[in-house]
This record gives sequence, C-alpha cells and structure tokens, in this order.
Amino acid sequence: MVYLDNASTTYPKPENVYIEMDRCLREYCANPGRGGHAMSRAAAEAVGKTREALARFFNFEYPERIVFTKNATEALNIAIKGTLQPGDHVITTMLEHNSVVRPLKDLEKEHGIEITFIEGDEYGEVASDTVAAHVRNNTRLIACTLSSNVNGIIMPVGEIGSVAERYGVPFLVDASQGAGSIDLDMKAMKITLLAFPGHKGLLGPQGTGGLCVDQAVELRPLMQGGTGTASENTYQPRVMPEALESGTLNTPGIIGLGEGIAFIDRTGRQTIADHKQHLTARMHQELSGHPKIHVYSMNDSGKNSGIVAINIEDMLSTQVSKALDERYGIATRAGLHCAPFAHKALGYAVDGGILRFSVGYFNTPDEIDYTVRAVQEIAG
Ligand code: ALA
Repeated sequence: MVYLDNASTTYPKPENVYIEMDRCLREYCANPGRGGHAMSRAAAEAVGKTREALARFFNFEYPERIVFTKNATEALNIAIKGTLQPGDHVITTMLEHNSVVRPLKDLEKEHGIEITFIEGDEYGEVASDTVAAHVRNNTRLIACTLSSNVNGIIMPVGEIGSVAERYGVPFLVDASQGAGSIDLDMKAMKITLLAFPGHKGLLGPQGTGGLCVDQAVELRPLMQGGTGTASENTYQPRVMPEALESGTLNTPGIIGLGEGIAFIDRTGRQTIADHKQHLTARMHQELSGHPKIHVYSMNDSGKNSGIVAINIEDMLSTQVSKALDERYGIATRAGLHCAPFAHKALGYAVDGGILRFSVGYFNTPDEIDYTVRAVQEIAG
C-alpha cells in the first residue's frame, strides 16, 4: 500500500510510538492524578513529560495550561464555545474546516454571534491587513487555520497574530495541518489559543489532541466533573489544566504523542519539512504537465504544507480515488474534506470536490513516482 492520506491521519507512526504505548499499557497505565500509589504517579509523571515536550515544541511558556483532548475538533470547540458570548463578533477565513465553521454557525444561530468570513487570494491565503480592516469594537476572537486541509496553503499566522495583539483580541490557530513540520512559535506569533491533533503531523495515535491556552485567556469549560482533584468542591475547579480536562485521560495515547514529538525532535522538524516539501514538489511537477490533470494546490515549498490537490477532466474525484485504491493500492481522500466553504471559495465545489494526495515523512520518492504513473494511466 502507498499511503498518501497523511492529512487525515499520519501512517505509519515511528517505531518508538508503538513500543512505548505497548509498554505503558502493560507496565504503568494506572489513572494519572487519581491515586497516590506508585503506578498512578508514574502515569502522571509521563503525562506531565508530554505536556512539557509540547510546551517546548510550540514555545509556549505554560505547560500546565495545555489541555489534552481527544482531537483538534474537541480543542477547537472548547476554545470557541469557551470564549464567545451573545453579541460577540468573530473573524475567520473561508478555508476553515467544519470543526471551526460548525461551532461558529451554531453560536450564530443559537446565540446571535456575528461572523466575518474572510476570502483570500486564488489559493485562499488571507492578508493580515484584510483581517485588521474587519476588526470591530465587539470582535472577541480571530480564528485561523495554520494550513488548509484542502490545498495545503499556509496562512501568515505570525502576521495575523500581530494584528490580534494590536487590537487585544484572542487569536485561535487551528494547527491540524502543519503542526510537526511548520515552525510554530506561540510567543513570536502571538497565538493565544492553539488547537492541535496528536495523530497527524505530531505522529502520535488517534484519540489525542490538545489546546494551549495562554495565561491571558480564561475559558468557560464545556464539561464539568471528573478532574481527580478538589473532590470536596461541587463546582468545577478553576485550576488548569483540570478546569478544562474532565474525565480520565487517554494515558497511553498521550504517551504515544510524547514519543511522536521525541521522534520529531530527534529527526529535526526542518528535516521532516524538507522531505515533505521535496516529495510534494516532485508530485506537483510531474502531474502538472498532463493536459487532462488540473492541479489546484500551490507549488511553492514555503507555502504548501504537503498537499497536492487535483482533478482529472471528466472524472469525479471519488471515482479516481476508488480506482487508485482498488487498482494500485494507493490511499487518498476525495470529495469535500469536511471543508465545503473552502471548496466553494476556491471554486472546486462545482466539480464535486477534489482528489487530495497528502504526503508524510515516511513516504519515499519511489512511492511518489509510482503514484504519478498511476494517475497518468487513469487520466489516459
Ligand atoms: N480533517 C481531516 C482531513 O482533512 C480528517 O482529512
């Protein structure tokens, strides 16, 4: 199998992820923070190490303000619903995943928040000046994806962060695509809320993710109970991370995520980024010359997180994906990718979406060449 669906979830994981998760489950998978015994302490210590590794990785000063969630969707919901109140205004972009769009639309319908969706250029890249021009007195959140899950375009989050800081508005970044290969520095980029999945570029398992919450931001919890602390208190404690982290944690998953980050640290984030960019550019270039293949993503290594988005003339993206899977053993994702606004803004929706190839660190140049030949054969 050639796996080119890394934007959905990365596969395979580094060997040390499998090994340590197995060891955790067998040797120290007690409930972290819910018992004074040795195994519970060992689990809590290992979870704490992952928090610290994440804080270092994102240059975030407060490891105790990293909240573990089951995925980026949960983290985004906590950030959005924990911040916005009736009458508030939010600025976001047309390229957002429905994990941002749906909670916002729900708040608009149920609680009258106002949303400004900013359109970008032909690839959807939004200019920070445009964001600044839409800030109002009641703007309480700017929410932006780090990189599109549809065409891979990387947003200028550092510049948008400066706008957010200038106007004193919390800045939420959805790092679902790109965390692990794009340099993310919360301090320099003025990011106050960072939502990330553990199972994509950070190379951990599914069922992991998190939200980094800057000290300047206080969020209303979506859930209450089960913090393992302050049991005498009938109300949710305000101490972080427990305030936003109800229920037993996914300890083996979090341990796996810590191992994913350890692998990235050992390998070098830039080495991973370079490898992905090399493969993306190779595929882009090879497919671009074919008269029946339309390539939509940008062939600029600094501006694409590792996605080649295409359509073959007169074929639905789902048909091509099925043929690649059944005839060639190549895994891709077709359709709208949970981001219908992005397809509409970029003009892809009319064709029933696009076929997405998303490369990962473990793909090889041979796999890319094999995939290019397969697509060319299908295109005829
Ligand atoms: N959001 C993931 C994707 O783009 C699942 O495929």
